[in-house]
Amino acid sequence: MTGLPQTNAERIVDLIDAGTACLERNERKQAADRYAEASGILFREAAQEQTATQKLALVKRAQQLLSTVHLLRGEPDHASGVRTSGASQSSGGTGSESEENEQTFETLQSNIKFDDVAGLADVKEALHLRLIYPLRHPEKLSRYGLQSGGGMLLYGPPGTGKTMIAKAVAGELSLPFFAIKPAEILSKFFGESTQKMAALFEHARSFSTGSVIFIDEIDSIGGARGEDGSSEASRRLVTQLLQELDGVQGQDEGLLFLAATNEPWLLDAALLRPGRFDEKCFVGLPDHEARVVLLGLQLKKCWIEENLTTAELAIETEGFSGADLVCLCERAKQIPFRDAVVNGIERPLQRKDFEAAIQIVKPSVTKASLQKYQEYSDG
Ligand SMILES: Nc1ncnc2c1ncn2[C@@H]1O[C@H](COP(=O)(O)OP(=O)(O)O)[C@@H](O)[C@H]1O
Ligand SMILES: [Mg+2]
Repeated sequence: MTGLPQTNAERIVDLIDAGTACLERNERKQAADRYAEASGILFREAAQEQTATQKLALVKRAQQLLSTVHLLRGEPDHASGVRTSGASQSSGGTGSESEENEQTFETLQSNIKFDDVAGLADVKEALHLRLIYPLRHPEKLSRYGLQSGGGMLLYGPPGTGKTMIAKAVAGELSLPFFAIKPAEILSKFFGESTQKMAALFEHARSFSTGSVIFIDEIDSIGGARGEDGSSEASRRLVTQLLQELDGVQGQDEGLLFLAATNEPWLLDAALLRPGRFDEKCFVGLPDHEARVVLLGLQLKKCWIEENLTTAELAIETEGFSGADLVCLCERAKQIPFRDAVVNGIERPLQRKDFEAAIQIVKPSVTKASLQKYQEYSDG
């Protein structure tokens, strides 16, 4: 302890660590108090944050923590985004503990298709070759002595569509698709997280048609196990995950893995060995053409001025991530909408609205962080 004032970020990390330590001792009430305090700080930080994407990320994190607090305190949680498992057989109960134990894992239903994802042609091609074609053409696969199965890691800056493209895989394949966030497993199932993970894999393997397991934000547990700061619980979960991945390589061909991370360099090297997440795929910022497509999708249903073209807007939004572009469009659309409601002025979306929005919504991915991905990709 240096006695220096703590930053909020440090305070949050400390509180979460303290909460997790309480959980490991099964002190739920104390854990809930720590998480609640961390969540409160996050909400306050979010309120002060200027960048919309950052604000959203902070709010999301704060809500996740709050869901955990509700769970620990046995309170109903209406805002929970947890979809690690679901009561697909129960009748929408209260989520009591005994009920949770009986839950089966819910598959992700997605109607997102590859065409909804702008750009990322290489990523789509890799996903086809590794996941989709092998399932659709098993006879051709074996003719070339190839095997289906194995894992792919999607990595790249936040907001570039990693989660979205994984959901598109679910939307394209008519296979059971299990989406998990390890951090949610850890917080939701406390001491039981390794058993939950094992149960999920067992369940996924039971489909003779094959199935897909998608581990989003894998860095939240996949961090190098030896390092300080990775909690005992998350270390155990990584070890469990490695065992499960190896099991698959040995026996079952039909189970596919997909994982996503913003921080691939944090991952335990063991996760990236052959037979595990051995294929890595960079998901980068949208290029000009992809921005045109994305802006077009965002403005499809909007009343816009005739001479406002997505090609021009795409030029002005170089460096924006997909999520930044969505945010920018929302912001711009709110201006004429507000004019119509408050001032009674009915007009289409105009260039000046974008100019105003672009003053506020800035690209969230820095050049320095892009450089870091480049260095990682170059090995
Ligand atoms: N390539 C893309 N095409 C279409 N929309 C995108 C794309 N990338 C990001 N988005 C938008 O941004 C949102 C956040 O993207 P997400 O997949 O969660 O990013 P990541 O998982 O890489 O952080 C998506 O829901 C979508 O609206
Ligand atoms: Mg994501």
